[in-house]
Amino acid sequence: MSAVKEDVRVAFRAVKSSSDLLSEQTRRESSAVSYPKRIPIAIASASGSYIHDIEGRRYIDFLTGAGVLPLGHNPPALIDIARDQLGVLVHGLDFPTPAKSDFIEAHLSMLPESLRGKYRIHLCGPTGADAVEAAIKLAKLNTGGGEVISFFGGYHGCTQGALSLTTDRDMKRGLSNLLPGVHYYPYSYCYACPFGLERASCKDACANYFARSMKDSHNGIGDLAAVIMECVQGEGGAIPVSKALIQEASRFCQENGVPLIVDEVQTGCGRTGTWFAFEQYDIEPDIIVMSKAVSGIGTPCSFILYKERLNTWPAGKHIGTFRGNNIAFATGAEFVNEMKSKRILENVRSRSDQVVDALGSLAEKHRFIGDVRGRGLLLGMEIVDPESKERSPEIAKYMQKYCLDQGLIVELGGRNSSVVRLLPPLNVSQQTVADALDIIMAACEAVSMKLALDQNSFFFTDYVI
Ligand SMILES: Cc1ncc(COP(=O)(O)O)c(C=O)c1O
Repeated sequence: MSAVKEDVRVAFRAVKSSSDLLSEQTRRESSAVSYPKRIPIAIASASGSYIHDIEGRRYIDFLTGAGVLPLGHNPPALIDIARDQLGVLVHGLDFPTPAKSDFIEAHLSMLPESLRGKYRIHLCGPTGADAVEAAIKLAKLNTGGGEVISFFGGYHGCTQGALSLTTDRDMKRGLSNLLPGVHYYPYSYCYACPFGLERASCKDACANYFARSMKDSHNGIGDLAAVIMECVQGEGGAIPVSKALIQEASRFCQENGVPLIVDEVQTGCGRTGTWFAFEQYDIEPDIIVMSKAVSGIGTPCSFILYKERLNTWPAGKHIGTFRGNNIAFATGAEFVNEMKSKRILENVRSRSDQVVDALGSLAEKHRFIGDVRGRGLLLGMEIVDPESKERSPEIAKYMQKYCLDQGLIVELGGRNSSVVRLLPPLNVSQQTVADALDIIMAACEAVSMKLALDQNSFFFTDYVI
């Protein structure tokens, strides 16, 4: 692009303010737009752990494109590779290419040593939901069964099949005829135990319930195709599965020839401190679903890894025009190399300790922080009313807004959107984490002051855009 054109482009951009772009969006785009309603900014550019809005305000980004930017925005080495690949090949359907070969080799090399050589890869359409669809179809084809077990709080995407496995009632309301034959089981949400038990005395109630009901000839479940679960529920509010529950599910699947699908769309690629979250649970999934971070820079891509014995489907059984994103393949291979060479998993673990220690101290001081949990850099605080201990979406929303005003982007999730979620880049620095924690600390102080003055004031914190 010539210098003159570039000037024109910059000038054109500068003409519109953030609020111009936000109101233009409200006028022109779907009413289903979601993030800007909670985080009303228009993004001009981004780099590393930071986003800049049109007015030049800088925000620490602890949302990172909902977890698709493991190395932050525009990591220079990967951007160079993307640029080079642009001139070589962009779209390759499912033809073999050198970039795809490197990508597959890199990702397969991240399987734990004992599992290497046991899995095939199937590249899917670009979204996590499409990979979930592929996993369910593959499981159905192999078992002849049609029913699926999913877990309370699970999120698997928004296409109709994936949404059927998802448990958020608001997302499903009004959409009849989703996939039939999905059964939902309690998940180890120990802070608000589905059985109403105290954490210390629950004795793995959800694992035992799962085991008992699977033995019950009158449990109402027909022929199963799969059990699907997240090792740490992301959208569900940063909730790790208990070892007992996932191991029970795995044992049941093995004994009954039912494929266990682990949805690593959000947890994969090191987000939880190991490359795959399932590595922390001593299980061997039959199908692993991957997306979000796999390309390293947010260029869309997804795939499933599945056990060799499941490789029974005929050519063309699960296709998708956009399953050959060679920019994603090229950057994804280098992303894996960087994760290894720069020992980024170690950073995930130490930054995780830094955040968890700080939030733990905050929870001791502030009674509205009900729980601090998660794994690696998939973390959250459940926000509650300090008196009733009911979830408090109002306080959570206030905290999100306060953080945004002070230059930190955080997301809300979980039941009633009452969990403040933190998803920093995996290579985030100690200093950036410290800066973000300062803002969270200030937000907590502001909540405390507000609570001391007038609890009801939390009901009036919505943005108007
Ligand atoms: C665990 C999990 N599965 C599936 C999906 C769906 O991915 P996508 O939004 O790319 O369809 C998500 C998205 O957040 C997710 O967190």
